[in-house]
Amino acid sequence: MRRFLDVLAAAALTLAAAGAFAQAQPAASAATAMPAAKPAVQEDLPPPAPGAAGGIQGQNIFDVKPEVKRDASSDPDYLKQNNGQRNAVQPGNNAPMWRGVQAGKEGYSSLPKSEAPEAGILIQGPVQYPGSRLTSAGEAWRQVRNQWVIPYGAALLAIAVLALALLYFTKGPLGQHTQDTGRKIERFTPFERAAHWSNAIAFCALAISGLVMAFGKFFLLPVMGLTLFGFLTYVLKTIHNFMGPLFVVSLVIIFLTFLKDNFPQRGDLRWILSAGGLFSKHEPPSYRFNAGEKGIFWLGVFLLGTIVVVSGLVMDKLVPTIDYVRGTMQVTHMVHATAAMAMMAVFIGHIYMGTIGMRGAYGAMRRGWVDESWAKEHHAYWYEDIKAGKIPAERSRPVAMVDKSGDLARPA
Ligand code: HEM
Repeated sequence: MRRFLDVLAAAALTLAAAGAFAQAQPAASAATAMPAAKPAVQEDLPPPAPGAAGGIQGQNIFDVKPEVKRDASSDPDYLKQNNGQRNAVQPGNNAPMWRGVQAGKEGYSSLPKSEAPEAGILIQGPVQYPGSRLTSAGEAWRQVRNQWVIPYGAALLAIAVLALALLYFTKGPLGQHTQDTGRKIERFTPFERAAHWSNAIAFCALAISGLVMAFGKFFLLPVMGLTLFGFLTYVLKTIHNFMGPLFVVSLVIIFLTFLKDNFPQRGDLRWILSAGGLFSKHEPPSYRFNAGEKGIFWLGVFLLGTIVVVSGLVMDKLVPTIDYVRGTMQVTHMVHATAAMAMMAVFIGHIYMGTIGMRGAYGAMRRGWVDESWAKEHHAYWYEDIKAGKIPAERSRPVAMVDKSGDLARPA
């Protein structure tokens, strides 16, 4: 009996082991059963490890490769694929999307176009600005600014300063040491001087803040360090934005105020041809303003002034009906920076003549009066008109101030 039970138990155990073994082997049978149904990419599965006879096989994770179409890039239309197609063969490869972004293609943005016309455009499409390569607009602008406006602007300003330094150290201040007669002529009225100096102060604030924004990183940043330089440029940029409108108003006022005396007159050509008497002892005669001043008026105040002001107002987003998109701002900035460099070069000359470059000039705009001898030396035709009574010697006060002897009135 005992023997019979042992045999029975052994048979039961064998049967159970055989059953478990049969359970583990279903796939092999199924695979071998239908090879045709496997998806195409699966052909890329690594062949089973040699000698592996079915069941779960261990595999080094580093050997597990994503189902990548090994020769995806050999597809002739590989570069034409859109992102969806690319992800089908190379999951996670978004090169088509980024190529589209780089080419300026517009993507989806939920922002209303009226408020954010460019929200869907991450990188602007390729353009070629003067002096740049054909590349994305942002890069093209950067090239024009860093390869043209900054280096050539700096060179222009340096040449202007060096030329004036050369003039000063070779010729010194222009004008003779003439004896004052004591008789004064009013050259600039208080209104003209107020308009001039508010304009001059606004211009100097704009020029200095503009120069720091353009060149500060080369000569201030290394000395001051990032934090302080960042703070300084932020303050100066704010001053620049607020001084702009003041400069606009005062520029228009001085243009209209001095316009009538800046038209071509007798003696202007002779003045130009003799370079204003620079290489001789005497300055050729001129009316209230000589040809050099008229040149600065039309080139500096009118032409460059208009370009700098209009482009500045656009960058301040103060001009209505303009589409303030990146392209507009890039072009406006290039125009503004170029015209501003030229204007600064022109007015460095004006400021030199208006301070140390000509004796008595500064006093004329500072106090408004010049001595008759100064007027005779520098603006002979203007002096003759005053002597002839065509122009009052004093314009800001009533004519009655001329004394009984008919001599010119002396300011109090
Ligand atoms: C610190 C800066 C400046 C100084 C020291 C300065 C100095 C002078 C002086 C001394 C005169 C009188 C010249 C004469 O008697 O014939 C003058 C005239 C004049 N200045 Fe300035 N100036 C400066 C900035 C400016 C700026 C920024 C502008 C315009 C953007 C300007 C526009 C004029 C005009 C229009 C005249 C009258 C002469 C003419 O119409 O041709 N000045 N300046």
